[in-house]
Amino acid sequence: MHAPAKAMDFSFTLLFVLILTIATTAAASPNIYIHMLKPHYGSNGHKHSDLNCLSWRLAVETNNLQNWTQVPQACKDYVGHYMLGKQYRRDVDLVAAEAYKYAKGLNLTGDGNDVWVFDIDETTLSNLPYYARDTVAFGAMPLNETAFNAWVEEASSLAIPGSLKLYKQLIKLGFKIVFLTGVEEIYREARIKNLKAVGYTTWEKLILREAGEGGGVVYKSKKRKELEEEGGYKIRGNMGDQWSDLLGSNAGDRTFKVPDPMYYIG
Ligand SMILES: *[C@@H]1O[C@H](CO)[C@@H](O)[C@H](O)[C@H]1NC(C)=O
Ligand SMILES: *[C@@H]1O[C@H](CO)[C@@H](O)[C@H](O)[C@H]1NC(C)=O
Ligand SMILES: *[C@@H]1O[C@H](CO)[C@@H](O)[C@H](O)[C@H]1NC(C)=O
Ligand SMILES: [Mg+2]
Repeated sequence: MHAPAKAMDFSFTLLFVLILTIATTAAASPNIYIHMLKPHYGSNGHKHSDLNCLSWRLAVETNNLQNWTQVPQACKDYVGHYMLGKQYRRDVDLVAAEAYKYAKGLNLTGDGNDVWVFDIDETTLSNLPYYARDTVAFGAMPLNETAFNAWVEEASSLAIPGSLKLYKQLIKLGFKIVFLTGVEEIYREARIKNLKAVGYTTWEKLILREAGEGGGVVYKSKKRKELEEEGGYKIRGNMGDQWSDLLGSNAGDRTFKVPDPMYYIG
């Protein structure tokens, strides 16, 4: 009985000292409550001392940081915790839920020309088992195209749960699905196998990049333009993890950005 009572006394003493400190400083500065707030929780509920990584990730997501080639060494663990933890999934889920709300409100005419464009990597399929490797370190190691392509060939990427749910909802609403990826044609069979294995079983078109064809925003714009101008489709929604999936011509009536702090494609 004595020990808890002592502990309680001690807590009250602490609390008292704290209140006294706040009261005396508050008198000196009316803004004390704002400055007293010290957030500790950045990603996934983990305490981390380097809040600059959160700023870095925010700048990445808002496209304020461009053309970066690697996750900063100091943010390797931060990005790892974010990607493997609950926060990343929640962030995707919110985007997907918002996309569904928008899609549901469109009242499709039923002419069969309404398409939804999905990027693949880190949008519908997750390469986290690859990115979690020591040699990749969530993007903190230099890109190794040979190793990544071998991973694509394995066809063992995972479905991103929020995106898979949205995909199924969109099909029910009557959208045609177009997958548009920067991965090369030679991986078509691996990609088909992978998509089907994790639940993406049907689509209108699966567009991969021809060897030698440019990549990034130029490539994606060109393919979307072809879809609309030659294919007669109307891009009602477009979802990607890179800004280069969503910028440029024929971007779609609305675009949705899912998070990706692991790599940048311009
Ligand atoms: C990134 O690279 C692109 C293409 O080279 C260029 O147009 C753009 O201005 C660059 N952005 C920054 C912030 O350097
Ligand atoms: C879609 O249809 C519903 C039900 O008829 C209606 O309430 C809604 O306003 C329509 N939305 C648009 C964008 O036309
Ligand atoms: C890239 O990956 C390949 C295949 O795993 C490996 O053989 C090669 O050594 C790696 N290159 C570098 C620079 O790490
Ligand atoms: Mg992608």
